[in-house]
Amino acid sequence: MAFPNGFVWGGATASYQVEGGAREDGKGPSVWDMMCRKEGAIWSGQSGDVACDHYHRYQEDVALWKGIGLKGYRFSISWPRVLPAGTGAVNPKGLDFYDRLVDELVAAGIAPYVTLFHWDYPLELYYRGGWLHPDSPAWFADYATVVVEKLSDRVSQWMTLNEPQCFVGLGHRDGVHAPGDKLAFREILRMTHHVLLAHGKAVQVIRARSKQKAHVGYAPVGQVKVPATSDRRDVEAARQAMFSITEPRNYWSNTWWMDPVILGRYPEDGLKAYAGELPEIGDRDLQTMCQPLDFFGVNIYQGQTVRAGKDGRAEPVGLPTGYALTAFHWPVTPGALQWGPRFFQERYRLPIVITENGMANVDWVGLDGKVHDPQRIDFTGRYLLELEKAIAEGVDVRGYFHWSIMDNFEWAEGFRQRFGMIHVDYVTQKRTLKDSAEWYKQVIVANGANLKP
Ligand code: FCB
Repeated sequence: MAFPNGFVWGGATASYQVEGGAREDGKGPSVWDMMCRKEGAIWSGQSGDVACDHYHRYQEDVALWKGIGLKGYRFSISWPRVLPAGTGAVNPKGLDFYDRLVDELVAAGIAPYVTLFHWDYPLELYYRGGWLHPDSPAWFADYATVVVEKLSDRVSQWMTLNEPQCFVGLGHRDGVHAPGDKLAFREILRMTHHVLLAHGKAVQVIRARSKQKAHVGYAPVGQVKVPATSDRRDVEAARQAMFSITEPRNYWSNTWWMDPVILGRYPEDGLKAYAGELPEIGDRDLQTMCQPLDFFGVNIYQGQTVRAGKDGRAEPVGLPTGYALTAFHWPVTPGALQWGPRFFQERYRLPIVITENGMANVDWVGLDGKVHDPQRIDFTGRYLLELEKAIAEGVDVRGYFHWSIMDNFEWAEGFRQRFGMIHVDYVTQKRTLKDSAEWYKQVIVANGANLKP
C-alpha cells in the first residue's frame, strides 16, 4: 500500500462558494458580490448571496465532515468579511465566524487547512486599483496579519493564494470571472508581479506571527502534460512542455507563477517572450516572492497528453473519439495525478499536497432518497490510483483534498455544476451524503488500500 501513514484525506471548499451571509454581520462587498450583479455574467443570474448557507450551518456541516472521517478540511477566509474595506478596521463578527469554525473543526479532530485568498477580493480595494496598485501586496500582508494573529494558535496549515492564474487571468484578462475586466497583457504581467509579491509577503507574515510552527504552501493551478508512453523521449517532451512558455501571451504557464515563488527567478523564456511588456522588477522583488515553503499545494483536474515529435518537442495527442467527459465537459485524464506530482516534485523539490481534484456530475436526489454518483466514485478512484503510482515512484505526497466536499456555487456557472460528495438542495438547504461520500469514508478508513475494484 503506497499511501503513507498520516496521509491527509481531505475535502475542500471556498468562502464565496459556500458561506452565503453576503451582507451579514458587517461583511463588506467583494468583487464577486459585484460580478453577480452584472447582467449575463453568471448562469441564470445566480449569486453566492446564500449559497450553502454555511455561514449559519457550519456546525451541521462540520458534523458531516466528521462522519465521513475527513482528516483535513481546506477552506478559505473571506477577506472583506474580516476587513470590510480591505484595509483598516477589522470586523470582529466576521473574524469570529472563522474562530468558531476552527474551534468546531479542532473539536471534531479535523485539521484546518486555511487558504488566505480564494478570489473574493474586497470591492473597496478594487475601486482603489485592486491588484494593479503597487500597495496591493502590502494590503494583503496586513489582512494576513489579522487572520494569523487570530487563528494560528489552532491553525498550523496555511495556503496563501488559490489559483492566481484564474483570478488574474479569468478575472482580468478574459473577463469571465470577477471583476470581469479585459485588460491588456502588459497589465496582466504587472498584476501578476504584485500577486507574487503578495504571496511572499504573506508567507513572511505567517512565519513571523504564527503562534506555533506553521506549514505554508501555495495552491496554483497545475497545468499537467501527460506523456503518451513511458518512453524516455515522450517523458522528456512532456517535462519540457510543462515547464516552458509555449504559447505567446498565455497566462496559464506553470513557470511564470511558480518559478519566482520557489526558485526565485522568472523563467528566461518568459522574460524573452514578454520583453517590452514586463513590469518594473525591483532588485529585491524576487527575494520577497521566494520564501521557503513547506509544501507545494496544487490543484489538478486534468492533463494534456503529449508525445515527442520528430524534433523531440512535445506535440499534443488528441483524445480518442468518445472519450469520457464530466458534466463540465472537462476530460477525464487520471494520469494527470501521477505525472503532475512527479514533474512538480522533480522541479520544485517540495512535498506535494493535492489541494483540489474532483469532478462535476449530474447528481440529483433519487426516488429512493439517495444520490447515486458512480461516475464520481470511478473518477476519484482512477485519479487516486494514479496518485498512488506517483507515491510508489518515490514522490512525497502528503495529502489529497477532494473538490468539493459539498455542492456549491461554481462561479460563472452558478449552481449548475455539482462538484460535491454531499448533495445540497439549495431550496431547503438539506444536505444528503452522495454514494461517493460513503465510498470516500471507506477509502479513508483503509488509507487507500481498497481503491482497486
Ligand atoms: C477550481 C477552483 C474552485 C472550483 C473548482 C471546480 O478552479 O479553485 O474554486 O471552482 O475549480
